[in-house]
Amino acid sequence: MGAQKQTALVTGASSGIGRETAIRLAARGFQVIAAARRMDRLNELVDQVEGITPKQVDLSQPADTEAFCSFLSDRSKPVSVLINNAGYSIRGALEDVSMEAIKRLFEVNLFALMRVIQACLPGMRKLRKGTVVNLSSIAGKFSFPGSGVYAAAKYAVEGISDALRLELSPFGIRVVAIRPGPIATEFNEVATELTGDLMARTDPDYKPIYQTAGAEMGKMFAGLSLPGPELIADLILKAVFSDDPKAVYSAGPLSEDFLGKRGNLDDDAFHSFMLEKFGLMGLQI
Ligand SMILES: NC(=O)c1ccc[n+]([C@@H]2O[C@H](COP(=O)([O-])OP(=O)(O)OC[C@H]3O[C@@H](n4cnc5c(N)ncnc54)[C@H](OP(=O)(O)O)[C@@H]3O)[C@@H](O)[C@H]2O)c1
Repeated sequence: MGAQKQTALVTGASSGIGRETAIRLAARGFQVIAAARRMDRLNELVDQVEGITPKQVDLSQPADTEAFCSFLSDRSKPVSVLINNAGYSIRGALEDVSMEAIKRLFEVNLFALMRVIQACLPGMRKLRKGTVVNLSSIAGKFSFPGSGVYAAAKYAVEGISDALRLELSPFGIRVVAIRPGPIATEFNEVATELTGDLMARTDPDYKPIYQTAGAEMGKMFAGLSLPGPELIADLILKAVFSDDPKAVYSAGPLSEDFLGKRGNLDDDAFHSFMLEKFGLMGLQI
């Protein structure tokens, strides 16, 4: 049985959406390469589920990503399903985010994603089939105030996904972008920890902006119960097992409201909608 198994790769499989996706793919008969930094978490997964191959990689380090990609290229069995899921967010107006933090985020959320796709494509082309699933976000289509750096990387994920979908269609390789709204995983905690005390370090000019937008964001989330990562993992599986997957799947709170407005309004009208939504309309400092 093992010899016939197809191989799937899930980056960021140590928690949240990636972990749930790895479990589901293994249950559906894939040998799953589960990649992340935290080996203890990956080993737990190995103990719980059959069909997981753990692989440690720090995708913020280009040399580590390269070594990981060499491991992928050297394997005799190609990866036929690639779930590019590893990612994180940092918050803050552009002036409050260091270039070092911006580059690190782009390294993980964008450059490593592109490099891993490059490493997997020769095998998929040989098979003349395969599925690449890229985790975007609702922030891949519009930006909240204070999330420009994260959104910029996700916009880029959408851009490369759109091009790849065209380039790879003649080989029978499908490319899907997933746009979750807020989901209950470690994502929020990680963003809070990496961002640190924004109010303590920002210029006084920005304080009313953070306060106003933060209060409106708080109202938006009040009473919302965030779905768990299973919602998105099920969506990913639906795409992988579809004969004709959609280009994009969205789910989760806020996704219909905001993506609907983004689709229906022109750029200026959407800007006004966002100013209103975050209490910034008419705010002068
Ligand atoms: N949760 C949400 O609200 C939400 C909404 C929209 C989109 N998304 C997207 O969904 C994806 C998964 O997020 P999640 O919600 O499941 O968050 P999560 O629970 O924090 O999982 C993130 C995963 O990425 C891995 N990762 C982070 N930095 C890494 C690095 N330097 N090298 C290798 N792996 C790294 C983490 O593993 P290690 O820490 O072990 O390395 C972890 O397995 C992300 O791309 C995120 O942008 C999430």
